[in-house]
Amino acid sequence: MIKAVRGTRDLLPPDTALWNHVEASAREVFRLYNFHEIRTPIFEETQLFARSVGEETDIVSKEMYTWEDHGRAESDRGQSLTLRPENTAGIVRAYIEHKLETRGLNKLYAIGPMFRRERPQKGRYRQFYQIDAEVIGPQSSGSDSAVRDAELLELLATLLDRLGIKGWTLQLNSVGCSNDRAAYNEALRKALEPVKDNMCVDCQRRAVTNPLRVFDCKVPEDQPIIETLPRISQFLDEPCSQHFEQVQSILKAIGLPYQLNDRLVRGLDYYTRTAFEFTHGALGAQNAILGGGRYDGLSEALGGPSAPGIGFAIGEDRLVLALSESAESVQKKPDVYIAPLGAGMDQEAARLARELRSHNIVAELGSESFRLKKSLEIASKIGARFALIVGENEVKTDTFALKNLALGEQLSVPRVELARKIAGG
Ligand code: HAM
Repeated sequence: MIKAVRGTRDLLPPDTALWNHVEASAREVFRLYNFHEIRTPIFEETQLFARSVGEETDIVSKEMYTWEDHGRAESDRGQSLTLRPENTAGIVRAYIEHKLETRGLNKLYAIGPMFRRERPQKGRYRQFYQIDAEVIGPQSSGSDSAVRDAELLELLATLLDRLGIKGWTLQLNSVGCSNDRAAYNEALRKALEPVKDNMCVDCQRRAVTNPLRVFDCKVPEDQPIIETLPRISQFLDEPCSQHFEQVQSILKAIGLPYQLNDRLVRGLDYYTRTAFEFTHGALGAQNAILGGGRYDGLSEALGGPSAPGIGFAIGEDRLVLALSESAESVQKKPDVYIAPLGAGMDQEAARLARELRSHNIVAELGSESFRLKKSLEIASKIGARFALIVGENEVKTDTFALKNLALGEQLSVPRVELARKIAGG
């Protein structure tokens, strides 16, 4: 038997109702904050991710689904392509490619699958879904302003509140800019030099190539060493400190609680200044519901114009896990189950179903081969509010037996009143 590939899964009804509920709420909230949808391709040139997310990150060095393309055309052959492990790189590529700087401030969102070859466990999959938002534009559009950072964090709190997700914590840090980073990397290298040989092989390499990535290490034995390393908060330059202060002062003004965490550096290389994660207690080891931050130098690193930006990605799989609502409670039930009774009634039932659906009544259709008892059982099982019985007598008199399944009462309703009756009760 062929099964879904390890780390991928089928989302079935009624669970898909929860996913739709989450996505519909997200779209509504994005609308309130004047965001618009962008859709970028699911695969891109490998170079895009190597240059933005960073060669030394776990994502690029271990987790990408990459292949060499082979096609008939010379131009296709040998091209290295990768299933997107995240969406920011693709959106910034699109920003550059379509000269979106001419539009001023771009507030964009995207919803879709991402791919990382991670070890699957609860809340961690190889194909997973992100709800991503990015605010990007030329500096003159105010894209570098702390106002944008605070607005994005407030948007997230609004969405989580609307979804009824309680008990989240906003972890906040500033990872500084390229000025601070040079000094910080130097300090990290120095601190790591005498201790790195006692660390895992990945950290021994990171200590030399990209010391910030040491903070991504999950090896328990390395943690006491990592604890002793200098913190980025001690290295922020004046403009970065001021920016971070400004973000915090707006968060305080709007009453959005946060926790400072100066060990939060995020596992992607493009971050500058504000970096954040929302964690949730009920999720176990994979407790980051979402993460994001600023990436003021990313457009330039990809050969584009200067374009400060900030964004986040919600792990939709984890968000759904954190919902307290049950899938059954949000799944829409049919309004009416139409039960044809006796030979020749399938046609009549189909006509009625078509009529009722044109009035926005959600109708499910039975078959004249079913006995009435079976039809009523199916009607209850699928949660229909009414059963509509279509027999020869009913068709003759153009008046139908409509059974309210919750109350158990049955009415005789003329055809012209059916839609109103069903919609009303
Ligand atoms: P990230 O922290 O790599 O950031 O991913 C964001 C969220 O995606 C995580 O917090 C988590 O909820 C979810 N996620 C990541 N990997 C998996 C997985 N294997 N299975 C299930 N969920 C997962 C980014 O991707 C950045 N692009 C976010 C961003 C946007 N920064 C700026 N703009």
